[in-house]
Amino acid sequence: MLPNVLPNSASDHIPVLADEVRRLLAVQPGETVVDGTFGAGGHARLLARDLQGRGKLVAIDRDRSVKSHFDRFKAQAGVDVRFLRGEFAVVLSQLAQNGVKADAILLDVGVSSMQIDRPERGFSYATDAPLDMRMDPTGESTAATIVNTWDERELTTIFRRFGEERYAKQIARAIVRRREERPFFRTGDLVDVIKTAIPTPARFGEGHPAKRVFQALRIAVNDELGQLEEALPAALEMLRPGGRIAVISFHSLEDRIVKQFLAERSKGCTCPPDFPVCVCGKEPEARLLTRKPVRASDAELDLNPRAASARLRAAVKVS
Ligand SMILES: C[S@@+](CC[C@H](N)C(=O)[O-])C[C@H]1O[C@@H](n2cnc3c(N)ncnc32)[C@H](O)[C@@H]1O
Repeated sequence: MLPNVLPNSASDHIPVLADEVRRLLAVQPGETVVDGTFGAGGHARLLARDLQGRGKLVAIDRDRSVKSHFDRFKAQAGVDVRFLRGEFAVVLSQLAQNGVKADAILLDVGVSSMQIDRPERGFSYATDAPLDMRMDPTGESTAATIVNTWDERELTTIFRRFGEERYAKQIARAIVRRREERPFFRTGDLVDVIKTAIPTPARFGEGHPAKRVFQALRIAVNDELGQLEEALPAALEMLRPGGRIAVISFHSLEDRIVKQFLAERSKGCTCPPDFPVCVCGKEPEARLLTRKPVRASDAELDLNPRAASARLRAAVKVS
């Protein structure tokens, strides 16, 4: 999973699949928009523009360091904007419970370039830094907590599942052996152990040898899949009839969660096909706007190769 904003200048970012998001969310003046993953505000800026001076935009992010981006965005937004710091699963559930309604909701999940590019956050295998990886620096567990305390089986499972790491077992075993001597504190220590745990030929050719383990740890530290699973029902609940939801994901496991959720909620009757009449009475709650995930165009990939793994799905809430 790769970061999905391209730094343009210190204060501006090119958001991924921006035209497609705008087309699918089709924001109209006077509407309420929720950006659940504000980041550098790239998408928010475009969606606020579509409000044409009338409406509201609620920005959510668990990372307090995005606040400076939000403050700049606020000064130029031209509409009513608000920042809510927290996990989108929690914030969206609270908003839904309080009866807050929205017309368009965007989730652009995963990590941002800003987070990856700040070495002290520990997301990158490219520079030695504290083994952290928390999107919310007040969160309880860091990557070091996982690497130093989870047992070999648990480590193997996340490396395999979240990182699709072929040498998951060997790496987990090497980590456990090394931490018996001394715990891990730095990304550099972990990179060294990963390199020694995998066969020499496998260290070349498939990107950096630590890439998949770092991705797996990041997903685990930030409970990224759990967040998405919880957020989607809350987001759909918040939408007014006719409201749109768009989700950009960067990992097949995330995309599967989105696909299954939207398919399930877009289905009507679930009675067995041989029932003469419907007895379940289930009505669809949503209509798919994308049958297949929308991918970045060649033109976008030329500009932002990091968009290669982005997949966008969207749906509209039906009354
Ligand atoms: C890919 S970036 C979003 C980029 C943004 N769309 C833009 O155009 O600048 C993802 C952002 O969502 C935040 N984020 C990821 N998961 C989150 C969660 N569960 N709750 C709240 N914020 C989250 C990250 O902190 C990061 O700032």
